[in-house]
Amino acid sequence: MKTSLKNKWVLVTGASSGFGAATARAFGAEGANVILGARRVDRLAQVADETKKAGAASVHFHGLDVTTTPSTNAFADWVRGLTPKIDVLINNAGGAHGADTVANGRDEDWEAMVQVNLLGLMRVTRAILPLMVGNPGSSILNIGSIAGRVAYEGGSVYCGVKAAELQITKSLRLELCGTGVRVGTIDPGFAETEFSMVRFKGDKGRSDKVYEGTEPLTAEDIAETLVWCASRPPHVCIDELLIKCTDQAAIHKVHRRTAKA
Ligand SMILES: NC(=O)c1ccc[n+]([C@@H]2O[C@H](COP(=O)([O-])OP(=O)(O)OC[C@H]3O[C@@H](n4cnc5c(N)ncnc54)[C@H](OP(=O)(O)O)[C@@H]3O)[C@@H](O)[C@H]2O)c1
Repeated sequence: MKTSLKNKWVLVTGASSGFGAATARAFGAEGANVILGARRVDRLAQVADETKKAGAASVHFHGLDVTTTPSTNAFADWVRGLTPKIDVLINNAGGAHGADTVANGRDEDWEAMVQVNLLGLMRVTRAILPLMVGNPGSSILNIGSIAGRVAYEGGSVYCGVKAAELQITKSLRLELCGTGVRVGTIDPGFAETEFSMVRFKGDKGRSDKVYEGTEPLTAEDIAETLVWCASRPPHVCIDELLIKCTDQAAIHKVHRRTAKA
């Protein structure tokens, strides 16, 4: 039977756009208390407003840069001032930077991807775990990617950090066995968010090409999936979930409709 999310405390990182913003609204619609973190605080204010309107019990937001320990720990201190327990942690902050081959890769892109997707996930989890252990039935849901399961040309470091996310999730699942805290990874294929604009540094033409002729996943598709995972009964843990749009059978097998003349 579904577990109600009403009045539960849900923390979403990377809540200023894409999956994170849609997830905030979706948990808001379930009547949860929603906590939002990201670097763009003006965007968080807008998402907070939408989340409140969706029906959230309460909404709170604060600047968060997961690439630094001081920012992450200051965020966690602020969270502890709001609530002594977290019921759902969604580690969503992340993204790709560039799509260069190994031969042409740039240090700044590699470092950015390792910091946000890998070390950021570790920092937030370490800081928030004390609010979850002792709260059986709570859930840590990490956002991985199809890229963590299958490599592609130009994806080396992004595929690498998302593969690390999968292994970190599995380690944490083992470490928390017996506490009642659930741990899982939700691994999407391509979805139309700000992801590709960030990856291609604002090049809209290149970004649009990723989705051309397809019906990609939406941020709402992922948000609904996260709500479903978190609302399973406490004895059910969704360990791993790979979710792709119907047009994407595999990384290299995408059905594209040609434009009609
Ligand atoms: N879209 C896809 O095709 C796809 C597929 C599989 C997996 N994913 C993963 O899904 C997650 C969400 O991506 P999205 O598609 O929703 O892209 P998005 O619209 O670009 O959202 C990324 C979010 O991460 C936040 N973020 C980035 N760096 C951060 C930092 N240093 N500290 C805190 N927050 C940070 C951004 O907020 P600020 O810039 O305001 O900090 C933003 O809210 C990422 O982990 C991504 O790797 C995406």
